[in-house]
Amino acid sequence: MAEALLAAQGIGVRFGEFRALSEVSLAVAPGSLHAIIGPNGAGKTTLFNVLTGRLAPTEGRVVLAGQDVTRLAAHRRVHLGMARSFQVTNIFADLTVAENLRLAAQAVAGNEPWVFWRGRSAMAAKVAALLEQVGLSARADWRAGDLSHGGQRALEIGMALAADNPRVIFLDEPLAGMGIDDVHRTKDLIRALVPARTVLLIEHNMRVVLDIADRITVLAQGRPIAEGAPAAIRADAAVREAYLGSGT
Ligand SMILES: Nc1ncnc2c1ncn2[C@@H]1O[C@H](COP(=O)(O)OP(=O)(O)OP(=O)(O)O)[C@@H](O)[C@H]1O
Ligand SMILES: [Mg+2]
Repeated sequence: MAEALLAAQGIGVRFGEFRALSEVSLAVAPGSLHAIIGPNGAGKTTLFNVLTGRLAPTEGRVVLAGQDVTRLAAHRRVHLGMARSFQVTNIFADLTVAENLRLAAQAVAGNEPWVFWRGRSAMAAKVAALLEQVGLSARADWRAGDLSHGGQRALEIGMALAADNPRVIFLDEPLAGMGIDDVHRTKDLIRALVPARTVLLIEHNMRVVLDIADRITVLAQGRPIAEGAPAAIRADAAVREAYLGSGT
């Protein structure tokens, strides 16, 4: 494997007496779509929080492009190329789709001097490109709150992409609660992010994960129990065991 763009090394997280993560190591190849799956409460979101800097691990290291970022604040990691789409929706429902994207782009560009002389037309071009990329050009002037669930997730992905050149994009259950049409559209959108970007995906829809992931890490009770290509994960006895009775 090429050198990892993002790695977790021996991550442990304790909440009081409770161990949410134990000895989690993970290497994400550049340009790959790496999925993290596992039963409810396995520690998937906690691992995202550690990787993105919202939560400091009790043990272990996070390495981004060879740099130890374990103690680096979340916003500093964003500047190093990490972009996150949150499980809880992040958009301004009363603004238009285009306005949401413009705000996301400005939030990143805001304190850089070029934005003042590069001007409005450059920003408009950037927003148009983002709309195109996430398939929302025809709905640019819609109120964001009127988009379907899938449309809103597409907008959130667009907002993550608005960050200047994000290298790693984190998506936590982007398909949750979607109807079948939206699932197909959003699945294609996520797959199209690689190899230009690197994607970390948490998702319970196993059919989609097996279809689009390059590599899958399975967590159960805070520990990795399997890692490999989709075909190997599908055949893995420990994975089947972990999912028995979980209803997934
Ligand atoms: N801040 C916290 N304080 C205490 N316990 C927590 C905290 N955050 C998470 N946990 C616990 O850690 C465990 C892992 O939670 P986490 O949200 O990472 O699971 P998950 O794999 O994302 O689950 P789901 O599939 O339901 O989203 C759970 O038992 C949860 O209750
Ligand atoms: Mg979660």
